[in-house]
Amino acid sequence: MEHKQNETFSSDFLWGAATSSFQVEGAQNEGGKGLSVIDVMKKNPKITDFSVAIDHYHRYKEDVKLMADLGLKVYRFSIAWTRIFPKGNGEVNEEGVAFYNDLINELVSYNIEPLITIYHFDYPQDLVEQYGGWMSRKSIEDYRAYAEFLFKTFGDRVKYWLTINEQDHVVRIPSRLGLTGDDRYEQMRLGYQANHNMCVATALTIKTFHELGMKGKIGPAVSYSMVHPASAHPDDHLASKDAMLIKHNYLLDLHCRGEYSKPFQTYLADRNYMPQIEDGDLDLMKQYPPTMIGVNYYFSETVTSFPATEEFPIGYQKEALLAEAEAGVFQVVKNDRLQATDWGWEIDPVGLRLTLRELNERYQLPIIITENGMGAYDELDEGDMVHDDYRIAYLNEHIKQVQLALNDGVDVFGYCAWTFIDVVSGRNGMDKRYGFVYVDRENFDLKEMRRIKKKSYYWYQSMIESNGKRLT
Ligand code: BG6
Repeated sequence: MEHKQNETFSSDFLWGAATSSFQVEGAQNEGGKGLSVIDVMKKNPKITDFSVAIDHYHRYKEDVKLMADLGLKVYRFSIAWTRIFPKGNGEVNEEGVAFYNDLINELVSYNIEPLITIYHFDYPQDLVEQYGGWMSRKSIEDYRAYAEFLFKTFGDRVKYWLTINEQDHVVRIPSRLGLTGDDRYEQMRLGYQANHNMCVATALTIKTFHELGMKGKIGPAVSYSMVHPASAHPDDHLASKDAMLIKHNYLLDLHCRGEYSKPFQTYLADRNYMPQIEDGDLDLMKQYPPTMIGVNYYFSETVTSFPATEEFPIGYQKEALLAEAEAGVFQVVKNDRLQATDWGWEIDPVGLRLTLRELNERYQLPIIITENGMGAYDELDEGDMVHDDYRIAYLNEHIKQVQLALNDGVDVFGYCAWTFIDVVSGRNGMDKRYGFVYVDRENFDLKEMRRIKKKSYYWYQSMIESNGKRLT
């Protein structure tokens, strides 16, 4: 729908940018930090590891100054659980607490609102060894107690909290759960148990948040994006609806409604994935839903139906990690109407508006965009500049759609670009860059890690300064 008049961004709209601890901090074995599942992950020889990352642990002051010059109103970062509790539970590591106190104080001194992700993929390895990690119900209390410690320690300066980053991905990527082995069915089954336990842990954490009288908002950061039907064929439409359910909605249905919807129950039962649910779990979720939703949005997907056959029986998945096809449900296909990034992620700004509307219609909660950005092979030219016009175009078009979603009545109160500064990409090392600030390190050559403002830095700076009026 087009509108005659456009809403403007409110004067307190939170313009921001994001990172995560293991992708920026480095100092993997410093400051008393314990090991996370990321630290022990089998190294992919094609990409760098995360042990030094971009050395933010030592350079955070320089980085925060760059954020302040950029005009950020909010900075989303995550706390490395194993810097606070090296073993995931038990003794507190005061050096880790001091690091985050310093970082938060630095942000606050520039009037930058800290938005904390409590846990962003780097789960304590020790908890996997102690009791199997998220697959055990013991994980519930350890997560809650860790979050409570953060609320009590940093809550005087932090208003916005994200509980778990992309739980839907954690569930489907075995290494993020600390799982080994090749039995994909078993991994999925365990993944859904982990998913359930994480939902209970989230609800209990939100309960604690309220009991402590914390001011502000709390909720998950979900990877959520529209799934389009590839054609007008009703089977494709059904496939897109089912894909939305099993990729995205199942999770928010649990967080926000304490509900395993009937079609999702059937999906789990058919595959033997149904987790153990204890009495009271679903009521707890119903009673303590999130007070905001964080959305990570990069691309949309387009699907056709994918009937199960003898060759592809129900439960068959085409891709081992993030499902690109599930027999009996859907198959992702190329959308010829959309351009894609160098990694094949289809660029769909209107998909963001649709995503926001879908979330609003289903859950009616305030929304903050916690990740949105374009990964690219950036090049530093001889004049020390990265001319990342493609990134500016990507962000510009997506932010325009956020504005249109405001017209549609969606309560979006902030936008965090991914990322503030080049980080080590989860799967593509330093090849795939996202930041407004270039870091001159390569995969295997750390160089000096100089910080260099890209063209997009200046564009975002003027966009923030004009409160969104300078969108082109
Ligand atoms: C999200 C994660 O999945 O996507 C980030 O929360 C990640 O940690 C981002 O970096 C982009 O993914 P990638 O693989 O391009 O780094």
